[in-house]
Amino acid sequence: MDKMWSGRFSASASTLLDKFNASIMYDRKLYREDIEGSIAHAAMLTQQGILTNDELTQIVDGLNQVKSEIESGEFEWKISDEDLHMGIEKRLTALIGDAGKKLHTARSRNDQVATDFRRFVLRKNLEIVDALKLLMREIVVVADKHTETLLPGMTHLQHAQPTNFAFHLCAYLSMFKRDIARLEESHKRNNVSPLGCAALAGTPHAIDRDKTAELLGFESVSINCLDTVSDRDFALEILFNISTMMMHISRLSEELVMWSSYEFGFVELSDEYSTGSSIMPQKKNPDVPELLRGKTGRVYGSLMGLLTVMKGLPLAYNKDTQEDKEGVFDSVETAEISLEILKEAIKTMEVKAHNMESACAVGHLSATDLADYLVEKCDIPFREAHFITGRAVAKGEELNVDLSKMDFKYLKEIDERIGEDVMEFLGLRNSMNARTSAGGTATVRTLEQLEYFKKYLNF
Ligand code: ARG
Repeated sequence: MDKMWSGRFSASASTLLDKFNASIMYDRKLYREDIEGSIAHAAMLTQQGILTNDELTQIVDGLNQVKSEIESGEFEWKISDEDLHMGIEKRLTALIGDAGKKLHTARSRNDQVATDFRRFVLRKNLEIVDALKLLMREIVVVADKHTETLLPGMTHLQHAQPTNFAFHLCAYLSMFKRDIARLEESHKRNNVSPLGCAALAGTPHAIDRDKTAELLGFESVSINCLDTVSDRDFALEILFNISTMMMHISRLSEELVMWSSYEFGFVELSDEYSTGSSIMPQKKNPDVPELLRGKTGRVYGSLMGLLTVMKGLPLAYNKDTQEDKEGVFDSVETAEISLEILKEAIKTMEVKAHNMESACAVGHLSATDLADYLVEKCDIPFREAHFITGRAVAKGEELNVDLSKMDFKYLKEIDERIGEDVMEFLGLRNSMNARTSAGGTATVRTLEQLEYFKKYLNF
C-alpha cells in the first residue's frame, strides 16, 4: 500500500498490474522537463501565496538533489512508482518531508505529463530543424561543385532529359526546406502551456498560468483545459513531420543505393560509411542508405500507432494516452541519427562526374529538343514535331547512335525542313542549358536556386 493514490483502496496492486501499468521505465527520459515543471509550478504557487518562501527553497533544493541523483545513476526507478511524476515526487517527499507533499497542489499528473511531453516535443522540433540545416549545408557543398556536371534526368527511371547534378540536389534541398518549415510551424502552433489545467477542469486555487508558461518558455497558455489534458496533436505532428522527412531521406537513399551500383556508378560511398560482406570479399555495400530507407518504416509505424491510440478516446485524459511516448522517443532518435549519418555519408562520398556525363550519351536525352526546334524554327505544331522526332529516334535505334550524335544527313532525310543548326540544339550540354525557364535545370537557373538555399542557410 505504498501508492500515492492508495487512500481509497484496501488491497495492494498486484505486481502484474504494476508491470502492465507502469511507464516509469521509459518516461524517465522526461526527468528534466518534469523537474523544471515542478520548480516553475512551486515558484508560481509561492508568488500566489499558496506556498511559503521557505517551502519553495526546500522544494527547489530537494528537486535539484533528485536531479543529481538521477544524473549520477543513484536514483532508484521503481516499477511500483508507476511513472516518473510519482517516482520523483515520492523521492522529494522522502528528502524534504511535508513541503514535498504540498507540491501537487493545483496540479494533476494529467497536466504534468501534458506539459513535460509537450516541452520535450517542442525542443525536438527545433533540434531536428538544426540537424536538417546541417545536412542541407553538406548538400550545398557538393552541389556547388557540380552545377555543370551533366546527369541524365529521369522519369519512370528511364532517361528523359539532360540535367545537372546540382539541379538534382536542389530538388532535395527544396524538400528538406519544406520539412523545416513544417517543424517550425508545428512548434509555433503548439507552443502553449498545459500547466494549471489540473486533471481536466482547471482548479479553484488562485494560480497564475501565465507565470508558469513564462517560466517554462511557452508562448502563452492553452485555451481549454479539457482539450489540453487529452490533446496529443503536437506529438502526432512531429511524427507526421518526421515521417515526411524520412520519406524524403528514403528517396535520396534509394538513389544513393542505385548510384553506387556498378550499373550506375555515379557515386562511391566512403569506406567509413560502407560495409563488407561476410562471404563475398569483393563487396562494398551501401548499408547506410539502405538502413535509412528501412528505418523510415518504423517511423511511419509510430505515426499510425498513435493515430490509432487516439482515434476513439472520449474526453478527457485516458490511460491509453500513455502509449504516446515510446513511438515519439524512438522516432525522434531515429530522425536524429539518420540526419547525422546521411550528412556524413554525403560529405565523404565520391561523386563520379565522368560516369554521370557518360550516362547521358545514351537514351536520346535531347529528343525533346528536336521537337522544340521543329516548333520554334520550322513552325511545325508540337504534335507533328513529336511524331517527326519519334522517327528520328527510331532511326537512331536502328543505327545504334544517340540522337545527339546522329549524322545530320539522316535527320534531313526524315524531314527536309530541319536545318543544320539543329545539331547545336541536340548537344547535351546545350539541351541542359536551354531549360532556362524559372526553376529549370540550366546552369544559370541552378546557380540561382543554390544561391537561394545558401541565403536561407546563411552560408
Ligand atoms: N504516466 C501517465 C501518462 O504517461 C501520466 C498521467 C497519468 N494520469 C492518470 N490520471 N493516471 O500518460
